Order: sequence, then C-alpha cells, then structure tokens
Amino acid sequence: MLRYLTAGESHGPALTAIVEGFPSGVTIDFKLINRELERRQGGYGRGKRQTLETDRVIIDSGTYHGVTTGAPITMRLINNDAKLERLQEPSAPRGGHIDLAGSINYQTGIRQVLERASARETAMRVAVGALAKLLLSQLGIEVCGYVVELGGIAAPPLTQDLAIRDASPVYTLNPQADPSIVAAIDAAKASGDTLGGILETVVTGCPMGLGSHAQWDRKLDGRLALAVLSIQAIKGVEFGLGFEAARRPGSKVMDSIQFDEQAPEKDRTFGFRRPTNNAGGIEGGTTNGEPIVIRAAKKPISTLASRGPSINMGTKQPQPATYERSDVCAVPAASVIVENVVAFEIAAAVVEKYVGTSLDGLRVSIAATSDLARRHLAEHWKTSTS
Ligand SMILES: Cc1cc2nc3c(=O)[nH]c(=O)nc-3n(C[C@H](O)[C@H](O)[C@H](O)COP(=O)(O)O)c2cc1C
Repeated sequence: MLRYLTAGESHGPALTAIVEGFPSGVTIDFKLINRELERRQGGYGRGKRQTLETDRVIIDSGTYHGVTTGAPITMRLINNDAKLERLQEPSAPRGGHIDLAGSINYQTGIRQVLERASARETAMRVAVGALAKLLLSQLGIEVCGYVVELGGIAAPPLTQDLAIRDASPVYTLNPQADPSIVAAIDAAKASGDTLGGILETVVTGCPMGLGSHAQWDRKLDGRLALAVLSIQAIKGVEFGLGFEAARRPGSKVMDSIQFDEQAPEKDRTFGFRRPTNNAGGIEGGTTNGEPIVIRAAKKPISTLASRGPSINMGTKQPQPATYERSDVCAVPAASVIVENVVAFEIAAAVVEKYVGTSLDGLRVSIAATSDLARRHLAEHWKTSTS
C-alpha cells in the first residue's frame, strides 16, 4: 500500500511528509520535484508570500545514493517565512475559512487552525506527487495539468505542447485566452476582489484495470475525487463529460466499443478502441485504457483585500474580517496541485494492483498481468457466441 501523511504549519519551521510503500529502484530527480514546487509557487495573481519562499525539497530517509530503497521516504521543505510564534491572533474570523468552525472544534484560537488549514500544506503534496511521477514515468504513465477556465473566461486547450503551458502566465494551453485572463486578474486586484477557475488533469498510458468495481472504497474515480476535493478551495470534481453528461441523452454520452483487427500484439488496450472518451477513462471505478480526464473547480480566494464583514470574537460586534496576506488568484498553482495529487493516487493504484516492492517488480507484474489478460481473451470466449 502506497500512502503518505503531511505535517507542518504555514509559518512553522518546516513542512514534512512521510511516504510509505514507495517501491525501490526509482532514481530521485530533485530537479523535477523542485520544478513542480516552483510551478506551484508561480502563476499570475499570487501574493508576496511566494517571493519569500523558495521551495527546495530535502529527502531525509528512504534512499541510498539517490535511489529509493522501499523504506519510508521523509520529505521536508524549510519555511523561509517561519514566524509562527510572532504572529498575532486574528480577532475577526474570515468567512470561507476554517477560522470560526475550527477554533470551536479544537477549542483553540484562530491562529492554530488557520496555520494548518492554509494551502501552504499543498507544497508538500506537490513534492509527494512529483515523487510519484518519477515512478509513473518509468512505467510509461504521464500526468499533466493545466487551467481551462479562469474568472469565467474559457481557455480550452488548443495544443498538447507543455512548453506552451509553461510559457503561459496562467498555465493554460491557450495563448489566445491568456491576455484577457491576465486583465481580469488585474481588474479583480484593483477592486480588492479575487478569482477562481477550473483545472484539468489528463493521465495517459494507464494500464486497463486500475481500481475496482467490487467495493465502493476501491473505485478509482472515488479515490481520485477524494484526493482532489481535499485540496484547499476545490469545490467540485468531474470526469470526462462530467456534469454535462447529466444534460444529454444516453446515446450522446456512452462511449461505444470497437475492435482493431490490425492492433499490434502487445497493444495496451488489447485491440479495443473507443472513438469517444466521455467517461474520462474510468468505467465502473476502473481504468479502461483511455486517458483519464479529471476537472476540478476552484473557488475564488476568500480573504479579500476589501475585507468582508465579520464579527469581533471578543465583543461580538460587527468588524471587517481580519486580513491575512493573500493571493488574488491561485488558480494556476491549483492546477499544479491537482496534477500532483492525481499522480500520487494513480501511483498508489498501480502499486496496489501490481503489488510492487520494486520498480522492476512492478514492470514484471504489469507485463505478466497483460499476458494473462491476452490469454483470457483468447480462451474465455471460445465457447461463447452471444
Ligand atoms: C494554491 C492555493 C493558494 C491559496 N491561497 C490562499 C490565500 O492566499 N488566501 C486565502 O484566503 N485562501 C487561499 N487559498 C484557499 C484556502 O486555503 C482555503 O479556501 C481555506 O483553507 C478553506 O478551505 P476550503 O476552501 O477548502 O473550505 C489557497 C488555495 C490554494 C489551492
């Protein structure tokens, strides 16, 4: 079982994760992990905090000469902006945050809960997801995320060229939409407001058969949705056509099945073809070999420079909500976070299905399982005609 936990406060000394069950034999590419961390800190519309932190991952355990050993991996990020004990207790809780419910739930002040609830924690989730990507890429599985809408401005992908996304100030694959989006962020900032958006992540190269239909908590779409919805400010998740499917008749939703007689012997989907991918790569909680397409809706930042109305916790009299240094728009960053948490869940599903303690073991197991499926396809239907 591949799993992880994170620890750390936004302005504490460090963020930490322990990743357990990660296979041996994967070479750590610090450059790749740090590049993902850097992307999370970037994107047009971020606040001053991102200029204070330069996230560089430290790995304290679970590797030998830069290669994973199968032992728990401890990952750490030092907070340059560590000042937890010097920060003031906010007097008026912010709507849209843990401030009020959390301090009542844990019988603490507001500071204690907001520090842990902060999206700074997602830096660790990106580091862990980037580690997972190192494993996935060795198995031919690629995960990529980008922005498809921001502040109500649509930016459908016009290309699959990631160099375009990486050159985009708002991480879209649509350079035509970028100037309007940047202008919308500027306008929101000028009026003390904030913007949300929609992120898409696509996973390619997944073997058919990750996840399971057999029990609710093993369904891969459910696991992915949990991981993505647990990201701060993500309020909706959809696969493939998503909510649009609810508006169409079944004939315009169901992906038909075809067979390619000319498919190569080692074809990844055993010769079966889907002319459409409305399901977004998952049917019955199980990957069907098509790209997994998952979209997430991120709400606008709740901390407003214009400070929304709130209550002073001492006097119970109206008072503007406390202002914590804040982003105007973190949608580009959220696309990086979604991409990386999805990568981790896919890696976890791979390790679970193929029971891998090592990278080589996973390779052998994936190949053997494919051979088994081919044998099943050749033999099981011999006697069946209808
Ligand atoms: C990358 C990222 C950056 C964020 N930055 C801020 C921020 O600067 N100010 C803020 O009020 N909320 C920010 N948020 C959102 C809050 O963390 C989140 O809304 C809050 O913790 C409450 O959780 P919930 O929205 O999931 O209910 C950010 C979220 C993400 C994903």
